Amino acid sequence: MTNGNMGGGKTGEPGRGATSESASECGGDFVPQWIIEKKRDGGVLDDTEIRQWIKRYSDGSLPDYQMAALAMAVFFRGMTPEETLSLTDAMMRSGDCLSWDDLDRPTADKHSTGGIGDKISLPLAPLVAACGVAVPMISGRGLGVTGGTLDKLESIPGYDATLPVGRFREIVRDVGCSIVGQTARLAPADRKLYALRDVTGTVPSIPLITASILSKKLAEGAGTLVFDVKCGSGAFMKTRKDADALAHSLVSVARGAGRAASALVTPMDSPLGAAVGNALEVAESVRLLSADAPPEGSEDDPDGALASERELVFSLGSEMLRLSGAADDEATARAAMETALSSGAALETFARMVAAHGGEARVAEDPLRVLPSAPAVIDFPSPQTGTVAGADADLIGRAALLLGAGRRATSDAVDAAVGLDRIRAKGARVAAGEPLARVHARSPEAAREVFPLLREAFRFES
Ligand code: URA
Repeated sequence: MTNGNMGGGKTGEPGRGATSESASECGGDFVPQWIIEKKRDGGVLDDTEIRQWIKRYSDGSLPDYQMAALAMAVFFRGMTPEETLSLTDAMMRSGDCLSWDDLDRPTADKHSTGGIGDKISLPLAPLVAACGVAVPMISGRGLGVTGGTLDKLESIPGYDATLPVGRFREIVRDVGCSIVGQTARLAPADRKLYALRDVTGTVPSIPLITASILSKKLAEGAGTLVFDVKCGSGAFMKTRKDADALAHSLVSVARGAGRAASALVTPMDSPLGAAVGNALEVAESVRLLSADAPPEGSEDDPDGALASERELVFSLGSEMLRLSGAADDEATARAAMETALSSGAALETFARMVAAHGGEARVAEDPLRVLPSAPAVIDFPSPQTGTVAGADADLIGRAALLLGAGRRATSDAVDAAVGLDRIRAKGARVAAGEPLARVHARSPEAAREVFPLLREAFRFES
């Protein structure tokens, strides 16, 4: 992303290590500083050097300070697609790799770089599974301000996301989809490296992000990978240029690793859908899977927020079905998904997945009865009359965090019940005092505490 030369050799000229065939080998010795110098000076690391590096970092014989130096060199110098593929593969092989060759169906998964209100995995996995493609999904907890997919699922009473691999495999085989948490044995090199990048200013590097995401996704073993790269104020990638670069890198490395892959770059300036918060997002996911989804413009979807969320589910789902060979083209894929929704098959698959994970399957029939609810539910009134231009995703996310829906530190517990729903979207005509969102909080005072953030979040057309 950034470029620069912080000293040593001439710009673009390989350093001392690059003068040998492979900087990692010197009479059979591995010389870490030569590899650091080579990358620092703009050289290209070879496959052996990268594999040696990750092997030694994983077994603890390479110290954090040298890994941090190399990560910083990569941050400034970047990596070629071949280097990124070698790094990804080496990190993937640092732990267990699953294979689904014994399944009678193709497998596909989706990875989103995450954003506010992004609950898409919940309806997408059962919908695609109901169309004949198995979805083995290994997901994360909240990385940013709101809960992650696992936090959302765990708001369903009884849902166990920490199943052993054997049970995960059984559920994928019997139900067609399963969403579980990452085990310590999946790409452990990434776990160690990510923690180091987090404290050394080396997270925002396209090759390092690519290797981090893909080492985990490739180890999970799905034959097709579809990426939803979010772009905007509530996303990891703030600019279209960075989002495009990440999408391109993810797809080219996934294809290089022998998987079918594609990516969509989708906006994250406003929250996705009308609900943000763990249980509230599960309830919205059930509505997305319901055969009688509310029509756009109706009382239940006044601004078309659900309709646009459903469109994203369909866009990602058709890529998964098409690339895995279950549909010849987008039209066939969409028709299959329409049938799976209208017949109730997709919702039933969701209920079966929840039940297989020990969760309360009635959530699919009556989410409000099953899911935890917050003691205080208060409308946030519009400060003015006008047309909503949008709700800033980042600020809505911060409000959800303040209410307790997300984590400040990885050890924090999330509150399943709190958050926001009925969030009005771009184009909504409101009168002063009419609700712009509904706040679910532990107390009326806690709800009102986020009002200043919400006032800032909602923009109006002038
Ligand atoms: N998500 C990941 O898994 N890794 C990164 O490096 C960034 C986001």
